[in-house]
Amino acid sequence: MTVRVRIRRPVFFLMVVVISSATLITPSLSDPRTSQAALICTNHTASAAARSSFVANFLSAMDAVTPQITARQYARVVVTGGSNPDNASAVYAFGQCMKDLSKADCDMCFATCKTQILKCLPFQKATRGGRNFLDGCYLRYDEYEFFGEALSQDDRVICSDQEFAGNTTAFTENTKNLVKKLSTEAPRNDGFLVGSVEAGNSSVYGLGQCWEFVNKSSCEKCLLNARKTINSCIPKQEGRVLNSGCYMRYSISRFYNNSGTDAAGGGGGHLAVILAVVSSAVAFVMILASIIFFGKRKILQRRKVRRQLGALATTIRRSSLNFKYETLERATNYFSDANKLGQGGSGSVFKGVLPDGRSVAVKRLFFNTRQWVDQFFNEVNLISGLEHKNLVKLLGCSVTGPESLLVYEYVPNKSLHHYLSDNANAKLLSWNIRYKIIMGTAEGLAYLHEESQLRIIHRDIKLSNILLDEEYAAKIADFGLARLFPEDKTHISTGIAGTLGYMAPEYLVRGRLTEKADIFSFGVLLIEVITGRRNSSRSEDPISTLQEVWNLYTSNRLLEAIDPILEGNFPMEKATRVLQIGLLCAQASAELRPAISMVVKMLVDDSPIPSPTQPPFLNSSMQIALAARMKANSRHGTSTQSSDNNTTITVIEPR
Ligand SMILES: *[C@@H]1O[C@H](CO)[C@@H](O)[C@H](O)[C@H]1NC(C)=O
Ligand SMILES: *[C@@H]1O[C@H](CO)[C@@H](O)[C@H](O)[C@H]1NC(C)=O
Ligand SMILES: *[C@@H]1O[C@H](CO)[C@@H](O)[C@H](O)[C@H]1NC(C)=O
Ligand SMILES: *[C@@H]1O[C@H](CO)[C@@H](O)[C@H](O)[C@H]1NC(C)=O
Ligand SMILES: *[C@@H]1O[C@H](CO)[C@@H](O)[C@H](O)[C@H]1NC(C)=O
Ligand SMILES: *[C@@H]1O[C@H](CO)[C@@H](O)[C@H](O)[C@H]1NC(C)=O
Repeated sequence: MTVRVRIRRPVFFLMVVVISSATLITPSLSDPRTSQAALICTNHTASAAARSSFVANFLSAMDAVTPQITARQYARVVVTGGSNPDNASAVYAFGQCMKDLSKADCDMCFATCKTQILKCLPFQKATRGGRNFLDGCYLRYDEYEFFGEALSQDDRVICSDQEFAGNTTAFTENTKNLVKKLSTEAPRNDGFLVGSVEAGNSSVYGLGQCWEFVNKSSCEKCLLNARKTINSCIPKQEGRVLNSGCYMRYSISRFYNNSGTDAAGGGGGHLAVILAVVSSAVAFVMILASIIFFGKRKILQRRKVRRQLGALATTIRRSSLNFKYETLERATNYFSDANKLGQGGSGSVFKGVLPDGRSVAVKRLFFNTRQWVDQFFNEVNLISGLEHKNLVKLLGCSVTGPESLLVYEYVPNKSLHHYLSDNANAKLLSWNIRYKIIMGTAEGLAYLHEESQLRIIHRDIKLSNILLDEEYAAKIADFGLARLFPEDKTHISTGIAGTLGYMAPEYLVRGRLTEKADIFSFGVLLIEVITGRRNSSRSEDPISTLQEVWNLYTSNRLLEAIDPILEGNFPMEKATRVLQIGLLCAQASAELRPAISMVVKMLVDDSPIPSPTQPPFLNSSMQIALAARMKANSRHGTSTQSSDNNTTITVIEPR
């Protein structure tokens, strides 16, 4: 028996607002339907040459999707061009929520959806497209214009394992009737329909939806196909068809929501405000409404959740680490391209000016942290406590908006990458400045490894993560990311760190991560700064600089390695000594690499230092494989605040 309750609008609306804001913190109250039906990655054979711009375009496309979803629950993005514009590098992306999902649940579902599609990252060989079907939302990216497409090769049907247990004849008949109705009527109903055949034990519920840009005739075609394929599931308890142009699902449970969802519109956009209200005034209304609505047992449950939510919301609201999403949105001129400082594996970075006049760098994270907001906030709290003259300070975050943001101090003079990828800029770096940069980087790293209350391994020391302030003092960016994104929370946490060319062999090959991996990267960076040549600049020979310096060292000609731009204006003994320290750090054997405090000491004083052993020599097959990956990624190396519009290369360890 179904009981229908009629409620007056205002109370209903408040309920919706309260409940939907609660989902931001505790996922259990309403249902954004985030269980995954299928993640389908597609392989295409495209030239490796186009991959670098494809990756950059993919990241931009994913950035552009979220604001559209927030505004209208679907998104359509085309990104072309990039550093190597050609047809092969265009990225098309489309996302949409099921139309019965409330706005807040849609945002929530999408946060999950977007995070998961990273598993179809284009970093991986040959992966050039992906579709992620959750029960509440859908996201696809591809290398061709697929928006109006009805059917494709990768379409599939997913049936549950369980057979229907009751009268199969009746169930089969009901289901067939239902999917027929869905497939014929949804196209005439703006491409969306939910419905049911209610017949006691053999009731069945269904949903059919065509994606936004599929026209009516294609919608009909797609759903007709869905109807045929979904029949193969009957009499399983549940079936889903995941087509290029449409989606269909039937189930023995009433999974959809036709309780006038659209009334909830406007719930998600102003969460900071909502959160502020939740814990106080509305709480009263909520209890009242709950009494009307749910009966005693549920009230107790909800009270508990509300207490937790209230406490967390209050903590976040009162914390000076909390920035309102709207404030940051305005500060960065709505994340305008003109304000964009760079793009990295974990998100893009924008310059912003706060209402009080402070300049900040706002990192717009690739994935939403709502699912683990308490943990995230806690880590931001810890990391923002780290203070050192050679670290870029983390000022806070925003966790209640449609996207998660990190706020850093703004460092004006760009990154080392900017200076060392261009001779004119490299001229600005005298020996003294280079030495100061190396010292500062070593001191910052020493703080992270040995002196701060948290032991932090950076995992991604490279030119673009060393920023320079007005006085060319080095500031390390992007530290602590591994803590913010624990392994089990997001796939790309393993991929955040590690840029080829800087990765210690034991980390690259076995994933073994200790401070000594940072020491290796530091050694490579040091050598790059002194020689003025990037280790990864020549893609056909990815380890050239390190190897050449080693060769010069063994033949006692280390001076020849020093950047010719300096025109001999440097202290020879000191310079060779610094290079030798670089080689010590970049030794193949992790055990032989000195600890960072030792490095600082060696840089400062003049006592004798050990002779370095060999840097890693890659065997030829590995070298070829690496060369291919380097080639694909070579021009990427930007992160937090450098000016280049590039992408951080991340090495994704397949699971
Ligand atoms: C249905 O929508 C209403 C209003 O948005 C929401 O309160 C409720 O939790 C939703 N239920 C499900 C199962 O999604
Ligand atoms: C994609 O590539 C993977 C691994 O290379 C392979 O197992 C899979 O069958 C391929 N899929 C398609 C659709 O070609
Ligand atoms: C892009 O594609 C169009 C049509 O397919 C073709 O005419 C053009 O030459 C291509 N451009 C490049 C740079 O490959
Ligand atoms: C609908 O879209 C399909 C595929 O994009 C196209 O072939 C067809 O001409 C369109 N039909 C109408 C009526 O626009
Ligand atoms: C199953 O349902 C069909 C159609 O509703 C009905 O004719 C038949 O008697 C039912 N069988 C049983 C065993 O209940
Ligand atoms: C529902 O199923 C139960 C047992 O499976 C049976 O006893 C009952 O009669 C069924 N009710 C209807 C309306 O079919």
